Amino acid sequence: MKRILVTGSYGQIGTELVVALREKYGGENVIATGRKKPPEVLRRDGPYYRLDVLDTDQLHTMLVDYDIDIIIHNASVLSAVGEKNPQLAYRTNVEGSYNVLEATRILGLDQVMIPSSIAAFGPSTPKEDTPNDVIMRPTTAYGVSKVFIELWGEYYNLRYGVDFRSLRYPGIISAETLPGGGTTDYAVEIFYEALKNKRYTCFLAKDARLPMMYMPDCLKSTIDLIEADPEKLVHRSFNITAMSFTPEELAKEIKKHIPEFEVEYRPDFRQQIAESWPRSIDDSAAREEWGWQPDYDLSAMTEDMLKRLSKKLGVEY
Ligand code: SER
Repeated sequence: MKRILVTGSYGQIGTELVVALREKYGGENVIATGRKKPPEVLRRDGPYYRLDVLDTDQLHTMLVDYDIDIIIHNASVLSAVGEKNPQLAYRTNVEGSYNVLEATRILGLDQVMIPSSIAAFGPSTPKEDTPNDVIMRPTTAYGVSKVFIELWGEYYNLRYGVDFRSLRYPGIISAETLPGGGTTDYAVEIFYEALKNKRYTCFLAKDARLPMMYMPDCLKSTIDLIEADPEKLVHRSFNITAMSFTPEELAKEIKKHIPEFEVEYRPDFRQQIAESWPRSIDDSAAREEWGWQPDYDLSAMTEDMLKRLSKKLGVEY
């Protein structure tokens, strides 16, 4: 059985990814790491440690001592926080990922997975059905760091045979852990506010269309790519998507379940970030090379989110 170490385990994706990996690979084989105190759900079924990826000694020691085969490097500063503190984004995203790729190369690990994002694209990228291989000139610190990760990972693959894999996640919607400082966070916050207050003030414009995905699809895509046959991979960094919607379309879908729900639009600096990203994504390379297919569209996601979140918050609707 492969042994996997996950960084950023206590974040929005990390928390649920560790749980899903432990179900599949066994609790003891999936090491959760991060810098915060782990949530209860990660303390039950397997090991967890404090790890700062900028500390290369600690990183190498942990990879050796726990006999790790695969590292999934989820620790990252997201787009909105990155614009407030670009230097922090550089250190965490660029230096952190460099350390992880170097550790993979030096220690000869089987595989390294580092997420990329739709943020790796920029204003000069075609915005509709954005292809996998296309011009990428992002204008955010986060986006620039993701292009570095993709290119350095692909370079290590060519140069040293490092088995690097990456997914360009769209906005991820989930009920378990809140996202931490991104531009697509509105698509999670809106559900909490709809259930708790029946009102939401959106920080993006009502027509800001962005590619999105529900957490079960995010977990499926991640695990499918880790397990994909390397012989079949032509690419190493993949577009993936499940749906695209605007804040207004999402609000309309929620209103089908909560008719009193009202949304006000007050775009802030994140609107400009959203405008620099694709509105929809062509993920045919992922479909062809490793069989990617999403399960949730806008209406299925909305229904399930409301069900899960209302249970968690103890609110009827
Ligand atoms: N969800 C991320 C963000 O908004 C995009 O990868 O920053």
